[in-house]
Amino acid sequence: MNHREKCDTLHQLETLAETAKARNIADLFNQGDRASNFCVSAAGLFLDYSKQNINHHELALLNQQAQQVGLSEGIKAMFLGEKINNTENRAVLHTLLRAPAQVKQQVLGEQADEVAATELQMAKIVDDVCQGQMLSASGKTFSDVLVLGIGGSYYGIKVALTALSPFHCTGLKVHVLANVDGAAVQQKLDNLSAETTLVVVISKTFTTQETLLNASTVKCWMLDKCPQAQSIARQWIAVSTNIRAVTDFGIKQAHILPMWDWVGGRFSLWSAVGLPLALAIGNQHFAALKAGAYAMDQHFQQAAPEQNMPVIMALLGIWNRNFLACSSLAILPYDHSLRALPGYLQQLDMESNGKSVAKSGEKLSHATAPIVFGQEGTNGQHAFMQLMHQSDEVIPADFIVALQGASEHPEHHKVLVANCFGQSEALMQGKSLQQVVSELEQTALSADEIAALAPHKTMKGNNPSNTLLLPSTTPTSLGALLALYEHKIFVQGLVWQLNPFDQWGVELGKQLGKNILSAMEGQAQPGLSASSQALIAKFNHSERH
Ligand code: F6P
Repeated sequence: MNHREKCDTLHQLETLAETAKARNIADLFNQGDRASNFCVSAAGLFLDYSKQNINHHELALLNQQAQQVGLSEGIKAMFLGEKINNTENRAVLHTLLRAPAQVKQQVLGEQADEVAATELQMAKIVDDVCQGQMLSASGKTFSDVLVLGIGGSYYGIKVALTALSPFHCTGLKVHVLANVDGAAVQQKLDNLSAETTLVVVISKTFTTQETLLNASTVKCWMLDKCPQAQSIARQWIAVSTNIRAVTDFGIKQAHILPMWDWVGGRFSLWSAVGLPLALAIGNQHFAALKAGAYAMDQHFQQAAPEQNMPVIMALLGIWNRNFLACSSLAILPYDHSLRALPGYLQQLDMESNGKSVAKSGEKLSHATAPIVFGQEGTNGQHAFMQLMHQSDEVIPADFIVALQGASEHPEHHKVLVANCFGQSEALMQGKSLQQVVSELEQTALSADEIAALAPHKTMKGNNPSNTLLLPSTTPTSLGALLALYEHKIFVQGLVWQLNPFDQWGVELGKQLGKNILSAMEGQAQPGLSASSQALIAKFNHSERH
């Protein structure tokens, strides 16, 4: 496809977007059976995107634009293990971790044996801990697992542990500690017995300041509480690429599970990073999680773009972001067990595509990742839905809800689902001044009072949304859901022509944090602003407990 054709497609989309901005989504339902024609099923999930401000012609042009920048070739390149993470010269093969052995063999060659061995090592640790073959230094079975990790070494575990709490079957209580705040550390340690706690420290680089400081503090705590020489050797496991640093920390070789550079941190739940989850839900449920993700991988690779759920979600996001100028995306899981999903997707989306430079190094001239926010429904209705209904901001939303609730309270689930569907309907329908006036005329208010109140009760409507239905929240459906978003974000990165798999933007803050720590300890840091210097002085002169 030549440059002129790309420009032509882009120009057509820009022209169509001007029309789209002026139309009512609700009016689109007058054209054919929209609810049936703007939905797609995949890997057990159902996506209703009929409340999006789009028609088939626009979607076809978005597809054409994606193909023009190499969507099909880009998908093949990822699954074949090409080094698509160009700035780190790495392949991107987290999908391989949930693929059958023969696929691993085809792509990895002999490294597939290492992956298989690590899977076996991980499964054996789970069995040994759960069956009492792996005991603490004082010969006791483990009661708790304390996980130390942050970012991709935290969010995937957190979202899955929270979502799958009904599937926690091993009896082990798994606690995750990410923040370096001593209050977070203390809160965990106050509720743990060092004698029966297994510590899993997860860090792809094993250089992350927060994780290393937490690990050092927890190590001191354990040695203080369990002076047995073997407590670190018997009660610590590490997951990392940096075997040397882990060994130097004092964790024995048999308790080190490797990671590989072709698994990005925020895509790593499927690797040995998932060990804490497997310790909570068991090997079988962990396998079901991977099977759900694999089913979505198969769909993503095989389905035609028009029926491809990750591609459709990606293109809808691009239509809203780049053509309808929406700057954020609300993730609204109407499911208490998915309450950690917005946080997980903040990292997955914004750390992947929150960039402004193309793979080529050129400055991008288009917008990229939206600002992702959200929280569980119905709580969000009492927090930010007011803005979504009555501000001038058009904020696309992803509603996510399970048809089958996880509790023994079907009445509650029905109310939850009704609120989920009600919010997406209200965001689309809105309420005109005329409708408000007609309603108020049924009350005892005077005409003047109605005229004064009515403008405050109008709602703009025309907010686009997706509704994703899970049959129920299980390891399989969760795996499919997480893989869906991984692929959606990958496709968007492809179309935006950036590299979704590096994260150079986190380096400066980390470095300056270390410089400021040095300044707090008396080392002159002349490069810091007067503001930061003054703040450091305030901290250094503040009362210390
Ligand atoms: O957030 C920055 C980041 O580098 C993430 O990409 C990564 O998941 C996280 O820090 C933790 O890194 P590590 O697993 O190496 O400790």
